[in-house]
Amino acid sequence: MFDALKAHQATVADRRIETMLDAGRAKDFSASAGELLFDYSKTNIDGEGRALLIDLLEQTGVAAKRDAMFSGEKINETEGRAVLHTALRNIDGKPVVVDGEDVMPGVLETLARMEKFATEVRDGIFEGQGGKITDVINIGIGGSDLGPAMGYLALAPYADGPRCHFVSNVDPADIFQTMEKCDPATTLVIVASKTFTTIETMTNARTAKEWMSEQVTDASAQFAALSTAMDKTAAFGIPANRVFGFEDWVGGRYSMWGPIGLSLMIAVGPQNFREFLRGGQEMDKHFCSTEWSQNVPAMLALVGLWHNQVCGHATRAVLPYDNNLARLPAYLQQLEMESNGKGVSMDGEDLAFNSGPVVWGEPGTNGQHAFYQLIHQGTRVIPCEFLVAAKGHEPELHYQHQLLVANCLAQSEALMKGRSLDEARGKVADKFEGAELERQAKHRVFVGNRPSTTLAYPQLTPLMLGQIIALYEHRVFVEGVVLGINSYDQWGVELGKELATALQPVVEGKEDAAGKDGSTAALVGFLRGNGL
Ligand code: F6P
Repeated sequence: MFDALKAHQATVADRRIETMLDAGRAKDFSASAGELLFDYSKTNIDGEGRALLIDLLEQTGVAAKRDAMFSGEKINETEGRAVLHTALRNIDGKPVVVDGEDVMPGVLETLARMEKFATEVRDGIFEGQGGKITDVINIGIGGSDLGPAMGYLALAPYADGPRCHFVSNVDPADIFQTMEKCDPATTLVIVASKTFTTIETMTNARTAKEWMSEQVTDASAQFAALSTAMDKTAAFGIPANRVFGFEDWVGGRYSMWGPIGLSLMIAVGPQNFREFLRGGQEMDKHFCSTEWSQNVPAMLALVGLWHNQVCGHATRAVLPYDNNLARLPAYLQQLEMESNGKGVSMDGEDLAFNSGPVVWGEPGTNGQHAFYQLIHQGTRVIPCEFLVAAKGHEPELHYQHQLLVANCLAQSEALMKGRSLDEARGKVADKFEGAELERQAKHRVFVGNRPSTTLAYPQLTPLMLGQIIALYEHRVFVEGVVLGINSYDQWGVELGKELATALQPVVEGKEDAAGKDGSTAALVGFLRGNGL
C-alpha cells in the first residue's frame, strides 16, 4: 500500500527541508480548525507526497468508515461494538442510533445527573460525615485514570472545586500516600472502572473503603461509581443514585467525555466541562465536513503515516510547550499505542507494514535538558510534535511565557537547520587549531533536516483542550483505518493479566514455582528470599 509513497520518498530523502520553505509553504503546508493551527511545513512532505498520502484516504475508504463510526455502526468488529465516544460530546443532542435506538436521551440524562451531583459536591449540598467535601480520590487505571488526571492538570487554572487525587497503580505506595493527604470524613471516593473487575482498581477501592470505614460510620455514603456494570457497583455497595453509567460503545481510552470525567467536572465545574465537550464536538464537525487537505486530524494522521510507515521512523515525540499538558504524552501513549499497536489486520491477516509508532515525550523546556541531545545529534531520526499556546494563564509573568515560546520555535528551527561542519569550526576556531579543531568541531555538528510539526493555539482553555483531545482521537482513527486494523480492541493486555493472576499464589508462597520457567522461578526465589 505504501509502495508509491516509498518510491517518492526515496527520491526526496536527501532534500533539505529548509530549501522548500519559501514564503508560501508555511501557509500551504498547514491546516486550521477553529483557532487551532497545525503546521507541518517543517517536514519533507511536498505537494506530490501530500497527494499520494491523501490517495491513501481514498483507497482505504476513510470517509465512509468515519461516517459509519459517527452513525453508530459496529466498527469495532472483534468485539461487535459501536464506537461512539463522539456521542458523549454531541451536546446538541442530534439522534445517534445504535441497534434501532437513539442513545442521545440516555447520554444527556447521565450528563445532567453528573452536573447535578458535581454541583452538589462543589456547593456543599452533598457532604461527607465531617462536612463539605475537600478532596476527591478517583480510583481507576488506564482510560479510567489517564483522561481525568491529564485533564485536571491541563485545566488547573479553572479548578475551583475540591482537590482531586488520582490513584491508579496497585503499588500500595499510590493509595497509601494519597490517603495520608486526605481526611476520610471530608473525602469523596470515585471508583472509575468500565468493567468494575480490573484488579488494580478493585484492590485499591477495597483498601479505600476499609480506610474510610475506620473513621466514618457509613463509608458507602461517600463513594460514587463510574461503570458499565451496574450489578457489580451494587454488589460493591454503592447506591444507584451515585452510580453514573455508560455503554459498551465507549472505549476505556475514549471515555473521559462521559462519567469517567466526573472528577474533572467536580474540579472545574459543569460549565467548564461543557466547554470541554463543546471543543470536542467542534473538532468532530471539522473532521466530518472539511476536505482532506484542510482537515487537521486527517493531515496529522497522514504526517504520522509518512514518518512511521513511509520513512521508517519508529517513534514520535510529543513535546508540549505548555506545562499544564504535562500528562498529555502519557495520555496519548494509551490512546495511540493501545489503539494502533496491533499485529494483524481487521481480517486477521498479519500486517505487511509496521503498526503504530512508539509515542513518548515530556513538556518543554524540561525535555531540552534531558533527551533533546539524542533528538538533535543521535543517529536515529525522531519526528517531533510540538504544542504551544500564544499565552498562558499568568499575565503577570507573560515575559516568561514568551521565553517558553522562543524555546519551542528555536527547537523546531534547530532540528530543521542543524549546524554544518563549517559553522561548527567557526564556533571554536578561536580556541583550537589543526586536528584538535577538526575533532572539536565534529562534536558540535548538527546534521539537521529533522522533521517536526507544531500545533499552535491561543490558550489552553477547556474548549481548546476538548479540540486537542478529539483531534488526537481522530488521528488514531484515520491511521487505524489506513492500516486496516481495529483501533478499538486491546487483546494485547490480556496475557499479562492472566499470568499475573496465576502467579499470585506463587509470589504469596502458597504454591511453588516449579512449573514456571527458570528465569521467573529464580526471580520469585530472590524476591521471596528478600522479604516478599
Ligand atoms: O489496559 C486494558 C484496559 O482495559 C484499558 O483499555 C482500560 O482503559 C483499562 O484497562 C481500565 O479498564 P476498566 O475501566 O474496565 O477498569
